[in-house]
Amino acid sequence: MAARAVAPPLVRLDFTGCLRERVGAAGFTRAQLQRACRAARPRLKRLRAALDSGRYGFDAILDDRGTAEACQREARRLARLADTLVVDGIGGSALGALALESALSSGRRRLAILDNVDPEIVHQRLAGLDPARAAVVAITKSGSTAETMANLLVVLEWMEQALGPAHLRRWSAVTDPEKGDLLALAGRLGIATLPVPPNVGGRFSVLTAVGLVPAAFLGLDVDALLAGARAMRAHCWGTPPERNVGVVGAVLLHQLATRRGRSIQVLMPYAQRLLALADWYRQLWAESLGKRHDRRGRVVETGQTPVTALGATDQHSQVQLYVEGPHDKVVTFLEVEAFRKDVRIPRLHGDLASLGYLGGSTLGRLLKAEKIGTEMALTAAGRPSFTYRLPRVSAHVLGQLIYLFEFQTALSGELYGIDAFDQPGVEAGKAAAYALMGRAGYEKQAARLRRELSRRRAVV
Ligand code: PA5
Repeated sequence: MAARAVAPPLVRLDFTGCLRERVGAAGFTRAQLQRACRAARPRLKRLRAALDSGRYGFDAILDDRGTAEACQREARRLARLADTLVVDGIGGSALGALALESALSSGRRRLAILDNVDPEIVHQRLAGLDPARAAVVAITKSGSTAETMANLLVVLEWMEQALGPAHLRRWSAVTDPEKGDLLALAGRLGIATLPVPPNVGGRFSVLTAVGLVPAAFLGLDVDALLAGARAMRAHCWGTPPERNVGVVGAVLLHQLATRRGRSIQVLMPYAQRLLALADWYRQLWAESLGKRHDRRGRVVETGQTPVTALGATDQHSQVQLYVEGPHDKVVTFLEVEAFRKDVRIPRLHGDLASLGYLGGSTLGRLLKAEKIGTEMALTAAGRPSFTYRLPRVSAHVLGQLIYLFEFQTALSGELYGIDAFDQPGVEAGKAAAYALMGRAGYEKQAARLRRELSRRRAVV
């Protein structure tokens, strides 16, 4: 896409806390950053070419209005039958739904997310649900992930025992449109399916049926979410690099990691509703950039470890380390300008010094002051930080933020020279679980794993 004037995004990036004049040697001059942003042009071109060729689809799915409408129709059908949607999925097949629910849901309907096979938790979640008021969406792109398939069987039996064969109309499946055992099973049981496009990886799939079905079930404004993502896409591809929120963010993080030893990124929302989004981002950043090989096959072992922290809570848990510990972190704040609700602090017992100054203010104001306090403490200690500023938490703004993070991650892959869209490390773990659980075709691997397990000696 050629650079042209587009509306400024609602999500802004304040990188004052990364400037050399503020944090000294850990920071950069404006000129250095501008040069680095301009130098990213060939990488941007490369990413654009990969998107245009259809190799990666996270960008083009925003224009697939047909699928978005189908998701909303399916979600409305499920919502007529249930007030709770059991989401059976893991990793990229669950984190987006959780993030959307936490950020935007009013609580009228809810999700019960099964994204682990911890037996106590699965038991507890199901025991707390009435099957007659539940619907289920099984989400797995590969159609084979052991955790998801195991929970699917557990929930199938649980529903069947309570409701008989009619329970199947309460099900929906989201998976690859052409292959995989979930597709086969859905066909066998007559369960409706919606697609995960083959060129969209799990962690980039929140704006496909993977996230849209749960979002629409909750009654969230899916159209606004997608419109927000499209608006950020227009900004990221239509604004010169040095004024481009996506490019500046990716370049800053890459420069901090590779030139300033910032191997850890702490994402710290000062809005509790955004903590699950930070968890979603943690997966996106970690799985996309943590790679052993670069595109030429050389061993590079790249990546920046993402950590989540919550303001103001973790000021009393983590911030001591961030301000005085090793110089290996950059803190990325998420700040919300206007909360949907604020709480007035009553003027009571004003004669006591710890109470008097608070009375008449609001919790929202206090939270903002806490964020500024943390930022200033980091800056004074020469620790880089920057802030994504959101005017409010709405579906449109969240759509912008989601696309922004996806774009930054994809561009960061280009800056590191690695493939941000594969996950060989995850696949290896999946295969080991198949082998140990006796899946056909994994016999050799199972024998090798058993031999290794039998050699475990260093146990105290
Ligand atoms: O981002 C990814 O690709 C992974 O985290 C997957 O989402 C996760 O492993 C689940 O895979 P699937 O959807 O195939 O069950």
